[in-house]
Amino acid sequence: MKNDYISLTEKTLFDFLPGGDCREAKLIESMKYSLEAGGKRVRPRLVFEFNALCGGNPEAAAAPACAVEMIHTYSLIHDDLPCMDDDDLRRGKPSNHKVFGEDIALLAGDALQTMAFEILSCDKAAELMGEKASRQSVNTLARYAGATGMVGGQVIDLISENTGAPVEVLREMDYKKTACLIKAACDLGCISANADEAKLKAASAYAECIGIAFQIQDDILDQTSSDEELGKPVGSDNQNSKSTYVSLLGIEKCRELVDELTQSAIEALSAFERDSEPLKEFALELARRKN
Ligand code: IPE
Ligand code: IPE
Ligand code: MG
Ligand code: MG
Ligand code: MG
Repeated sequence: MKNDYISLTEKTLFDFLPGGDCREAKLIESMKYSLEAGGKRVRPRLVFEFNALCGGNPEAAAAPACAVEMIHTYSLIHDDLPCMDDDDLRRGKPSNHKVFGEDIALLAGDALQTMAFEILSCDKAAELMGEKASRQSVNTLARYAGATGMVGGQVIDLISENTGAPVEVLREMDYKKTACLIKAACDLGCISANADEAKLKAASAYAECIGIAFQIQDDILDQTSSDEELGKPVGSDNQNSKSTYVSLLGIEKCRELVDELTQSAIEALSAFERDSEPLKEFALELARRKN
């Protein structure tokens, strides 16, 4: 599954990007730069895995997988800007704004965001998953990416700098800034397979747990890894006086929390009658990840 879904996602992504022979070529190059820089493709994998778990056609998962990866990539480009985390390294390469300038990086993020909804609502996606599922997937992604989801979480992150925010604020922040897009990925996998409400509910429960665990693990790696291994600058959170689970509770307690959340995610999979072993393995893989 792993290599198949990565190649299908990447092929669909790059086929969908406009050609670079135009006045705005620099914008297209900048969008491509961040998409091609790689990344773990965690969210596309979740779309494909939940599509498979719900007995869907994998072809119907390709557009949603690309859409979530586009939103995620845009969020990273903006997250690295000097007005946000001011980080110069991403996915092992200079951050988008270091190569293309802040103006183009900002606009590349904007354009990736609208392109996500373009691919999700295109005729081919609607044919493959059905009109109703296509509309529902657009609505779901918009909700989880926007003011009450990822963007809202990024705001909580910024306003919590230097505050020593308590655990309930951290939970809401990590839920919104990180778990919401992971939730969108899991939900879109189910929706692309026309799954019922009970399956969506179980997918959401799994996603919420691995999503919060994912951000806590990210915060742990920010203190314990190296730039080379992580592909982004370690120590960024301390430098920006971020409020994180690690700054509040320390590394050891955070490792315990990641394990507890991972176990809760695995328990949520019992609602599926098909083989959920790959998603169990994936939750464990994410909890043990080193980058
Ligand atoms: C980084 O996400 C941002 C967070 C939500 C913690 P990833 O760790 O999935 O980044 P890539 O896609 O592999 O670069
Ligand atoms: C960002 O969290 C989450 C996003 C929504 C982009 P971080 O700021 O910790 O992500 P990294 O460490 O820069 O990837
Ligand atoms: Mg950030
Ligand atoms: Mg950051
Ligand atoms: Mg981080």
